[in-house]
Amino acid sequence: MSVIIYNSEVVGVKIIVCNDYNEISKTAADIVAGILKSKPKAVLGLATGSTPVGMYNELAEKNQNKEIDFKDVVTFNLDEYYPISSDNPQSYRYFMNKHLFNKININMENTHILNGMCKDTDIECYNFEKMIEKQGGIDLQILGIGQNGHIGFNEPDVTLNSRTHLTDLTENTIEANSRFFENVSEVPRQALTMGIATILSAKKIILLASGRNKCKAVKELMNSKISTDNPASMLKVHPDVTLICDKEAYSNNRIGVDIGGTEIKFGVLDDSDKLIYKTDIPTNTDSEDELINSIVKKCKEIIDCYYISGIGVGTPGIIKNGLVTAANIPFSNTDLGGKLEELLNLPVKTSNDANCAALAESKCGSGKNVNSMVMISLGTGIGGGLIIDNKIYEGCGKAGEIGHFVIDYDGKKCSCGTKGCWEQYASVSALLKNAEFAAKNNPDSYLAQLYMKKNKLNGIQFFDALKNNCSIAKEVFEDYLGYLSTGIESLINIFDPEMIVLAGGITNAGDDLLMPLIDRISAEIPIEISALKGDAGIVGAALLI
Ligand code: GLP
Repeated sequence: MSVIIYNSEVVGVKIIVCNDYNEISKTAADIVAGILKSKPKAVLGLATGSTPVGMYNELAEKNQNKEIDFKDVVTFNLDEYYPISSDNPQSYRYFMNKHLFNKININMENTHILNGMCKDTDIECYNFEKMIEKQGGIDLQILGIGQNGHIGFNEPDVTLNSRTHLTDLTENTIEANSRFFENVSEVPRQALTMGIATILSAKKIILLASGRNKCKAVKELMNSKISTDNPASMLKVHPDVTLICDKEAYSNNRIGVDIGGTEIKFGVLDDSDKLIYKTDIPTNTDSEDELINSIVKKCKEIIDCYYISGIGVGTPGIIKNGLVTAANIPFSNTDLGGKLEELLNLPVKTSNDANCAALAESKCGSGKNVNSMVMISLGTGIGGGLIIDNKIYEGCGKAGEIGHFVIDYDGKKCSCGTKGCWEQYASVSALLKNAEFAAKNNPDSYLAQLYMKKNKLNGIQFFDALKNNCSIAKEVFEDYLGYLSTGIESLINIFDPEMIVLAGGITNAGDDLLMPLIDRISAEIPIEISALKGDAGIVGAALLI
């Protein structure tokens, strides 16, 4: 059972992502040096473990170069095994002497480490707290982080002793720290450690994390609620915490899910928004539960392979107050985000699929150099996504349903119940329907020959007929372009975007579609074809996180 102490956004964690361990060490040492220069009698809280060793080397070098002086510096170490004698090479006293104190001009009397051989641990811990208090508190506390989120030796627990205390180590920590001992049985089962409140009393905190094995701990620190289950999460209430980590420890991989009528696509975006993995599954439309379970199953497989910080989902339909209702998918007022969040235990955000595609184009595709754009997805219907100031504009939930603006008030009936919607004239289905009708009425045309093969036409065949100068195809196309350009002109009049981006299979026709369309549009505005093509949906969904 976890105890949630405080559930809020991150208050003060500043993150510095370094390229590698050396950079972490230098960055941290510079911060320590800055403090020592402004306050020669600074009180430092120090940590052990392998992570701060590089920083200690840098500090020793700075001290030898006379850049910093430790003469009046006072130190308090976070923790010490119990029982352990100070001359045991695994003791933290031995560690500190070896890696720092013996290399700098510190007065050993100013270095305070809990006594691993003390008789009365309560008295030892009480005196330690009093000494910190007497020094006016800790100016800068250096921290590492255990793989299970432990800080010092504050292990995940329902009850956490907040001041310096004796604690039992978890199996996880004993195992992780056994690498420093001959064998696991030699690792002490207890330790003395500053408590979380002791740590949070420091004026400034820097937390160091390096390498892939710290990725989960860093991710959980950033994402988890503030809870005793994750001691590091409690740092989030402190106003001045800097996490210094390398790229391996800080991975911002996100899953993007693009739910379609026939298939659900999944992708993983890395921290530089590069698509590093993709896969798909058929859409299970039997029931809401089955559909959601199939998404959960695939996400879990991905989470097993990548450290994932959150999941974005693009879905057809309308999302109002977080509830999804879609026509061809069994979602009816479905709390898709809430359900996925509960089942996957990660933050989940949802948006309309066309909006996601627009977001992707605007951030990493054709629209990456503009702030506003309208994305038009031409397919069975017409989907749209509006980007204003680099953000999706959703209105009260269904903005961007551009396929349903009416261009003929008494026109063709639409599936939405209205008459004369734009998609009845300018979608790819509308184009092919008209082309098939024209082919049937003109049996001698080239278009008719193509139609006859399967008693239907596809986009490739239609553009093939145009290339072969089929006059019937040309007539149909002119009519189509009239409707498509009229709609686009209207959108330009309403939104005055910096760019129009076209998407959908028909855009594979490239300039054969684009050039005649541009000729018909009077506004001087770039009209581009989607750069991300079929990946736009998963990329945009992942970008929601
Ligand atoms: C030990 C220490 C912690 C330290 C952790 C991580 O458990 N008590 O203070 O943060 O190890 O160590 P490392 O940096 O070696 O991964």
